[in-house]
Amino acid sequence: MLTKEIQHVKEESEKDFSSVDNPKELEELRIKYLGRNGILVQLFEELKKVPKEDKPAVGKNLNELRNLLTEKYNLLKTDLEKTDDTSEEKIDLTLPGTIRTIGSKHIIIQTLDEIKSIFKGMGFSVFEGPELESDYNNFEALNFPPNHPARDMQDTFFVSEKFLLRTHTSPVQIRVMERFKPPVRAIMPGVCYRNEAINPRSYCVFHQVEGLYIDTDVTFAELKGTLVSFAKQFYMDDLKYRFRPSFFPFTEPSAEMDITCFICKGKGCRICKNTGWIEILGCGMVDPNVFNYVGYDSEKYTGYAFGMGIERTALLKYGIDDIRKFYENDLRFLKQF
Ligand code: DAH
Repeated sequence: MLTKEIQHVKEESEKDFSSVDNPKELEELRIKYLGRNGILVQLFEELKKVPKEDKPAVGKNLNELRNLLTEKYNLLKTDLEKTDDTSEEKIDLTLPGTIRTIGSKHIIIQTLDEIKSIFKGMGFSVFEGPELESDYNNFEALNFPPNHPARDMQDTFFVSEKFLLRTHTSPVQIRVMERFKPPVRAIMPGVCYRNEAINPRSYCVFHQVEGLYIDTDVTFAELKGTLVSFAKQFYMDDLKYRFRPSFFPFTEPSAEMDITCFICKGKGCRICKNTGWIEILGCGMVDPNVFNYVGYDSEKYTGYAFGMGIERTALLKYGIDDIRKFYENDLRFLKQF
């Protein structure tokens, strides 16, 4: 009877032990077979009831079962401990690391940051205005009267009769002056839009930085001094400059600033169209009419303003030949900066 049971336990244990795959299950089997109240102990208990003459044979069987179970248990235990160890050591230090591609600032933003920090160093604060502007701020208050031909200088995306995508950052001048009393010294960077034919030199979206300084007794000499200092810091120290008379409705007198072409150092090249000069910005003394629109006393205050295109500035500084590259998001281009 007991011999049969021993055989049965042997078969059952074989099945049990073959399906173990973690230390917890193995421990359960240890308790089931080898534990203090386990099957083996019960079987040894029953051995006592076996007739004397059968005892040696059955006892031998039972001992073999015990050895078998103990051996199986020990083997599995060391096996599982080994695999357990390796599961904790899953990191293979010889594998190459994961390369995380980190984005970087777009070259236009980098250029803007550089310009901002130069003007901040000269005491200018930074303001921003909305890209969707009123016709009033973008044109009228800047002394472009309705139907004035100067409006044609800028091909405008109108959103409605009264609203448009700003064609320049100059309307932020109006916002700043309406908000603060003089003295005001600020630069105003931002995105602008013009309905232009798209080609290597012009695009429908671009950035500008506007500058404004209003106080009593601000002079054209101060305007020149500030802009020359900026150009020397931003482009190169050793440059020549000139201010050419120009026209903008919101400044009087108005000028455009040229500096020595830093590609050919003034000798004449394709970029400067062989003149040796490069135009970098527009500027002038704020027209008293603008002061009247924002409620500043034009008898008491004077001021200057300037505006420059960032794409153009970056094109020149980095010798890039096509403005559209800034907006194509071609990583081969962007990664160079
Ligand atoms: N807003 C002008 C443009 O987009 C640039 C400009 C010229 C701004 C002269 C100024 C300025 O503030 O004084 O062409």
